[in-house]
This record gives sequence, structure tokens and C-alpha cells, in this order.
Amino acid sequence: SERTFIAVKPDGVQRGLVAKIISRFEERGYKLVGLKAVVPSKELAEEHYADLKSKPFFGGLVDYMTNGKAPVVAMVWEGKDVIRQGRVMIGATNPLDAAPGTIRGQYTQVVGRNIVHGSDSFESAEKEIGLWFGKAGELIDWTSANEQWILSDN
Ligand code: GTP
Ligand code: MG
Repeated sequence: SERTFIAVKPDGVQRGLVAKIISRFEERGYKLVGLKAVVPSKELAEEHYADLKSKPFFGGLVDYMTNGKAPVVAMVWEGKDVIRQGRVMIGATNPLDAAPGTIRGQYTQVVGRNIVHGSDSFESAEKEIGLWFGKAGELIDWTSANEQWILSDN
């Protein structure tokens, strides 16, 4: 299985949607291996969104992530195909294109306040997990007793 970086953005924290977002991943059967609330530095946010540096909204995006009006809740989830499935569960970047039942499709209306982030590839997941959970011991290896019931089909 694989790991992905999922983050509740400050608007999601401010709106009290942290538990609901965590529940979606828990109930699907994914395993939580890292979790913390953090106000990221400007450097961290800029590196996290480095591929968007040339976009007109980049400055606003970094300020919104870093200004401390609410923390980011940073998470690492582990499981089968969790990188791709996480993106599907989150829904389209623009909430107006997000399917009903996805996190963004259920809770959000505008692209600049879409409450949650998910890694978009294996490479992004590796990079983002390293950025947000750099220190040894911040990620926990553990065995889920539920897993045999979720994954075994014989
Ligand atoms: P993340 O999971 O947050 O990375 O979103 P994404 O992968 O669905 O989209 P992308 O990486 O292209 O953009 C990152 C974030 O930048 C989005 O989630 C939005 O918060 C913000 N963003 C993207 N496009 C726009 C835009 O046109 N306007 C504004 N204001 N923000 C945008
Ligand atoms: Mg992205």
C-alpha cells in the first residue's frame, strides 16, 4: 500500500470540518499514520505549492495558508491506492465542478476556499510528506485490526 498527504486548510478548520474530513478517510478503511495542527512558515507553504509559483493567486494562497487565522491540520493516510482515492474523495479543485458527495462538492463553493488538500501523485506525496513531516518519529507504523475485514475477500 501507499501513503498520501492530506491537509485540512485553515478555512476547513475554521468551519469545524476537521472531524468530518477525518471520518471520510477512517470510514473508508484508511490508516492514519501522522497528524498535527500547524501554522506553516511562508517557506513551507511556498515549497508545498511550488508548482503554482507563477499563478496570479499564488501570493494570496500562501498568505491564506500561513497567516495563522487558523492552523492547517496535516495528515498522512496509508492504504490501497490512497493517493488516487484521496483525490476522488476530495473532488475537483473548483467546487463548482466537484461531484456531490465529494468533500468539496458537499461543503464548498469557491476554488480559493476549498478546505482540503490531497497529493496528486506518488511523487507529490513523497515530497509533501517529507516537507510537512520531516522529523523522524512523526509517522507511526501500526497494524490495523480492521484491515483483514476490509481487504480480504475470501
Ligand atoms: P490542492 O489539493 O490544494 O493542491 O488542490 P488541487 O490539487 O485540487 O489544485 P491545484 O494544486 O491546482 O491548486 C492548489 C490550490 O490553489 C487549490 O486547491 C486552490 O486552493 C488554489 N487555487 C487553484 N486555482 C485557483 C484559482 O484559480 N484561484 C484561486 N483563488 N485559488 C486557486
Ligand atoms: Mg494540488
